[in-house]
Amino acid sequence: MCGIFGYVGARSDAPGMVLHGLKQLEYRGYDSWGIAVPKDGKIVVEKRTGKIGQAETTLPASHVGLGHTRWATHGGVTDQNAHPHLDCTGRLAIIHNGIVQNHRELRRDLRDRGHTFVSETDTEVVAHLLEEECARLGDSAEDLIQAVMTTFRQLKGLNAIAALDVRSGCLAAAKNGSPMTLGWATDGMLLASDYAALLEHTRQMTFLDENQAALLTPDGIAVYDVATGQTITPEITEVSWSAEQADLQGFPDFMSKEIHEQPHVLRRIARERLDDARALAGLIREANETHLVGCGTAAHAAMAGQYLLARVAGRRAFYANGSEFGYLEKFLGPGALAIALSQSGETIDVIDSVRGAKRRGATLAAVTNVEGSTLYRLADHVVLLGAGPERCVLATKSFTAKLAVLLLTAYALDGRIEQAADLLEQAATEIEAMLSDWRRDYIRQIADQIYLREHMYIIGRGPSYPMALETALKIKEVSYVHAEGFAGGELKHGVIALIEPGSPCIALAPNDETRDDLLSGAMEVRARGATVIGIGPREDDAFDFHVPHADLSEASSIVQAIPGQLLGYYLALLRGHDPDKPRNLAKSVTVK
Ligand code: AGP
Repeated sequence: MCGIFGYVGARSDAPGMVLHGLKQLEYRGYDSWGIAVPKDGKIVVEKRTGKIGQAETTLPASHVGLGHTRWATHGGVTDQNAHPHLDCTGRLAIIHNGIVQNHRELRRDLRDRGHTFVSETDTEVVAHLLEEECARLGDSAEDLIQAVMTTFRQLKGLNAIAALDVRSGCLAAAKNGSPMTLGWATDGMLLASDYAALLEHTRQMTFLDENQAALLTPDGIAVYDVATGQTITPEITEVSWSAEQADLQGFPDFMSKEIHEQPHVLRRIARERLDDARALAGLIREANETHLVGCGTAAHAAMAGQYLLARVAGRRAFYANGSEFGYLEKFLGPGALAIALSQSGETIDVIDSVRGAKRRGATLAAVTNVEGSTLYRLADHVVLLGAGPERCVLATKSFTAKLAVLLLTAYALDGRIEQAADLLEQAATEIEAMLSDWRRDYIRQIADQIYLREHMYIIGRGPSYPMALETALKIKEVSYVHAEGFAGGELKHGVIALIEPGSPCIALAPNDETRDDLLSGAMEVRARGATVIGIGPREDDAFDFHVPHADLSEASSIVQAIPGQLLGYYLALLRGHDPDKPRNLAKSVTVK
């Protein structure tokens, strides 16, 4: 949560660079934004509530700048609470991602020592603590980094901070838990919460590790161990993504762009991820128990993985929400395998729980989209999704990519991986067709019919149950319609009481053993006046609307995801919402 961007170097347009960097990171939080630069020995700040949109900065030219886009945790959405925050002297600007858990005590003590607070945030304590350390140490760049490390050691919780000091004209940062990447460019040094925002400047990255700090000067970056204050040789990685991949490429928004990238991503996984899937299958084969863990959409992929391993390879695997796994991992140990699924590789509930499992001796495999992310570096074995940057807050291509990797893995366990690769090729072709033929407009027409409804229901049985949950989440996240997904068999155990005349109900009806029972459920809700939207290879009397798709055996779930993504998208547009930045959300959840 929260986007951090900073630059120091030869270029004098730091304010504009930082603003552009923040726009790239806005999916991490868009309650407010702010930028700080030095001017005549003082820090000058520009900060506002709301999204950046087409805003231009009015700050003076500068060779150094620091910016932040906020997802509010402590203190309302106000200009005062927007970052950067300054110290009492106006010498230092601070930005922060995370939660300073001991901010109350620190604030009380700082107040007692005469500091004046202007915001309600937990973050502002960092500015005043740093003020004291810098006053104690001096004005050099080395003084700044030592002061930042001393300050950081006083903070409790999972945090990333960055500071701009007018005296040294440098940037300094420290992190523990929240992500921080450093970029080495030819005309300066950069820092950001994730490296997608650095790609147009460089592909040479240093991923700051837990309890590390960094000093950025125009000529280079020095990395330190926060505990000892000693320098560490920075590891520089050339990342594979390009800046172009992170652009809209002519689409009106990232959600539609990323929905349309799915055929390409699936083909790429079918051709380039076979060895990774075989290796993951090997880990599952060796393990005495396997746990699939994820949050949100990744949790639905984990649940789908449980069905795939059981149905394709006859292998028992457990699925858990990352935010709950921590309460269950106590019984894991050597011989157990935890497979963590996370697009960003930074979801703190997943990282914390699998880190616990790893401490107990379990093997950790990660299925993630971000090279160099915390999960990527924590895992014993990694499968990179290769889906390219996902900038829309809603996970679409990363979801079907996870299903594709799990499908290959299940078939590899059963010695039929080529069959799965072929199914993925077919799924890519079918999705390509669905995104360009009559079905896309038909789904839009359905949205036209139901967009004023405040409640919708999605039913699925067996492997379609996690798909029902995912379809509901997509509709909820982007259109703010209360959509509820549930196991088709649970209908008569209570939830059917919610059905009233005109209630939209999506029925996921693939050509498998779940179809008949699912259709009975669809008939039952129709009998109570629901409008039934059938998604599946074959038409049925239970349906008021039918979105057909090819029967692709166990890969049908991948195709089944698309109508829900499109319906959510069109409902959002019809209800006047921004599909890329839904209210109250952020792309990667790095605070508890
Ligand atoms: C999905 O559309 C949401 N953005 C959210 O549920 C997301 O899937 C969840 O926060 C997990 O993110 P991750 O895959 O980056 O770990």
